[in-house]
Amino acid sequence: MKLWSGRFGKDTDALVDALNASIPFDQRLYKEDIQGSQAHAAMLAKQGIITKEDNEAIQKGLRQILLDIEKGEMEFKLDQEDIHMNIESRLTEQIGQAGKRLHTGRSRNDQVALDFRLFVRRHIPTVISQLLQLEKAICQKAAQHKNTVMPGYTHLQRAQPISFAQHLLAYGAMLKRDVTRLEDCLERLDECPLGSGALAGTTYPIDRHQTAQALGFAAPMENSLDGVSDRDYALELLSDLSILMMHLSRFSEEIILWCSWEFKFIELDDAYSTGSSIMPQKKNPDVAELVRGKTGRVYGSLITLLTVMKSLPLAYNKDMQEDKEPVFDALDTVEMCLPVFTAMIETMKVLPENMRRAAGHGFINATDCADYLTRKGLPFRDAYTLVGQLVAQCTAQNKTLEELTLPELQKASPLFEEDIYQSLNLENCMALRASYGGPAPAETSRQIENLEQFIAEHTPKEESK
Ligand code: ARG
Repeated sequence: MKLWSGRFGKDTDALVDALNASIPFDQRLYKEDIQGSQAHAAMLAKQGIITKEDNEAIQKGLRQILLDIEKGEMEFKLDQEDIHMNIESRLTEQIGQAGKRLHTGRSRNDQVALDFRLFVRRHIPTVISQLLQLEKAICQKAAQHKNTVMPGYTHLQRAQPISFAQHLLAYGAMLKRDVTRLEDCLERLDECPLGSGALAGTTYPIDRHQTAQALGFAAPMENSLDGVSDRDYALELLSDLSILMMHLSRFSEEIILWCSWEFKFIELDDAYSTGSSIMPQKKNPDVAELVRGKTGRVYGSLITLLTVMKSLPLAYNKDMQEDKEPVFDALDTVEMCLPVFTAMIETMKVLPENMRRAAGHGFINATDCADYLTRKGLPFRDAYTLVGQLVAQCTAQNKTLEELTLPELQKASPLFEEDIYQSLNLENCMALRASYGGPAPAETSRQIENLEQFIAEHTPKEESK
């Protein structure tokens, strides 16, 4: 029998039960549901709304249900709809009358709002820790490649010389923002919806400050209608995860390019690559491709929830039951992708000679050549035009700039002297880019130090899971 069957003349149709029930997926909220009920019952007793004895029976019963669920000994029933009613009816089955008092002054609307918020709050530190592990891997690899020259690209055309460290540290900077975005989300969700009731609070003398504090929130939510209908924290989480996956998909795309024979800047470890069923020579970067591909489903989750919430009138509407699966799926996806992505980065073999060879072609020192002439007094715009002509000449002769002889260079401008070859040397070009944030080794060292400090400062205190 349904908990709410009182006003109904007959049972719901089986198809309605199937549509209506959320227990197949919201059973993942069991821990949060029990935690919330324990805080609620304790508050009811403290306020004299239920007796001390009833509270003790409820607490004991809930502890037992928690153990049963964790041992796989609780059968979830579809006709009990959701995790809230499954737990409540089991409690009443086990402890009798006291179980029926648990829901005093509470509704499933504030109950689910609380459970879901607690779930999001519990998972964010996990994602942050995983991000910081990836940051660590980036620091370690970057430290080994401060002097590894590679071409930096714009429009996927070779542009200017950078180091592999500098390239990796760009991802380090992106992921730092992902960490702080998730921290912001945690900070804003730090308000407790419990006690908002169905939508309009309650006539019982409940103490919302007490439950908020017991559940580790900074304060109760200010408005009961907002309390039951706010899902901003889930949307923020999904936005944060979408941006994070966008970063990982860009990184993945580069990994995929870098392992191609056209680049061959890196080689992935065998443990993080796969083969082909027909082409014996193939070693495919499936991990990076899957991370890139899974980005789509995380974006999908964000759009799903945004669309569910769009135009919903206040306060609770059953549409909102559709909030959980996208969040579960996005968290599962990110929590699966991050560790394997980190391991792929840790174990990849970097091939500096190939990077250096690629850097040697494509005139990535042309800007440096123009800067040389500018230092000797030519206005930059004129130097730019002159070097452009030299590049055209070199292209016609299939030469690099540094392969031009001094007389050839001096024919273009008398300002060229023997020291031009120092300025065209790629290692020098990279190392001289020492402006703040540039690829010079001193600058990448500074970035690595800051990133290490960031990791230490942002590691979540206790890793609850
Ligand atoms: N399973 C529901 C959900 O996830 C719980 C809240 C139901 N509230 C209601 N008034 N039917 O949203």
